[in-house]
Amino acid sequence: MKDNFYFDNAATSWPKPEPVYAFMDSFFRSNGVNPGRSGHMLSLEAEQMVFQTRKMLARFFGFSGDPNRVVFTLNGADAINMAIAGLVKPGDHVITTRLEHNAVLRVANHLEHDGVAQISRVSAEPSGYVLPENIEAAIQPNTKAIVLNHASNVLGTVQDVEAVGAIAKKHGLVLVVDAAQTAGVVPIDMALANIGVLALPGHKGLFGPMGVGVLIVAEDVTLSPTRFGGTGVDSESPLQPEIYPHRLESGTVPLPGIAGLHAAQKWFLALGKQCLEKQLADQDHTAEQRLTLAELNESQSEHAVMCKLAIEHIHTTEMQHIAEIETLLKRYPSVTVLGAARNDARVAAISFIVDGMSAQQLGDMLDADYHICARAGLHCAPLVHQDAVTIEQGGALRLSPGYFTDEEDMRNLINALTELLA
Ligand SMILES: Cc1ncc(COP(=O)(O)O)c(C=O)c1O
Repeated sequence: MKDNFYFDNAATSWPKPEPVYAFMDSFFRSNGVNPGRSGHMLSLEAEQMVFQTRKMLARFFGFSGDPNRVVFTLNGADAINMAIAGLVKPGDHVITTRLEHNAVLRVANHLEHDGVAQISRVSAEPSGYVLPENIEAAIQPNTKAIVLNHASNVLGTVQDVEAVGAIAKKHGLVLVVDAAQTAGVVPIDMALANIGVLALPGHKGLFGPMGVGVLIVAEDVTLSPTRFGGTGVDSESPLQPEIYPHRLESGTVPLPGIAGLHAAQKWFLALGKQCLEKQLADQDHTAEQRLTLAELNESQSEHAVMCKLAIEHIHTTEMQHIAEIETLLKRYPSVTVLGAARNDARVAAISFIVDGMSAQQLGDMLDADYHICARAGLHCAPLVHQDAVTIEQGGALRLSPGYFTDEEDMRNLINALTELLA
């Protein structure tokens, strides 16, 4: 019997795959030195691990440019700050949406408040999807960028990033994507979707630890540095070096966090291989067909192809849990689930309110009486709750199962909700 039943993976994924814990520990012990600084063997090995991680992440997100443009940040909010503040200049106009997390909203609000930039916040439909044509309609002559929440951390709705990317390309705008809720659970191809800057935390769907985020900057986008400091290269230069990653990475990188992401990438690769083997066994492929598939995978970068299989498998697993939760919630007339169109593109987060009970009350009861970890409140996305008219009852209760949610977790959740809602 577990001590806790964790349904808060949209806040951070937990637990992590075993190899992530193991490699963080072993690499920190064997090579926990400053990478890219001192030039001794241990430091060079650490630097090599960091560079390999940049390479794996580039392939994971369909980025074929220089892996040094995969920049490590502190978390998702840090990556978004660096993206928006590094892009926007006085007099620019930025389009974003009312689905955004405060990680985007507050950066945009400060730019507006300080008179630096004009901001348009496009509304979503009541279903939780933003119509790409509404984004296009908001474009002005001085528009610089579109900043898009890929999946809402409240509603779980996934936006049509490729359609928005096509609009950005047509109008010569930079598309900045906040992939906090999709990285690792929805395949993202930066080239296909014309994403100019991809920002994400390492601690959610990528299965890394807290303390590390990722920013990938397309070759045709220039981000100005917004923080300055030591880089281990070009020390005589009075200004921040021009070259990536040093242009954006000041100070010592979070080595243990990067080691965690490194091991997690290898875990995705191994999971993808298992999925492929299972598919081949299920479909009873001949040896000849196996060879062709292997060759195809080789030509497309094994890492990208296998990780995509793993991502699809993870997404399917998580959405099975959401379907079960949703079926239960829909039985109770006192329950309102936020957003609609559950069969459309989604990730595994579901938020709901219950008549006569505040979200906090429900969250507290789940925690105290059933040891179920869920998140009550506004989820750092106040405009989503304004539009859903859930501010007055203190927001909603969000349940977000993950890949490691098991039958015991689900049984306990279903029992608890059945008792509380009856
Ligand atoms: C949609 C979205 N964007 C950005 C963030 C910020 O990520 P971090 O907490 O790593 O800064 C989150 C975190 O919950 C999020 O859900």
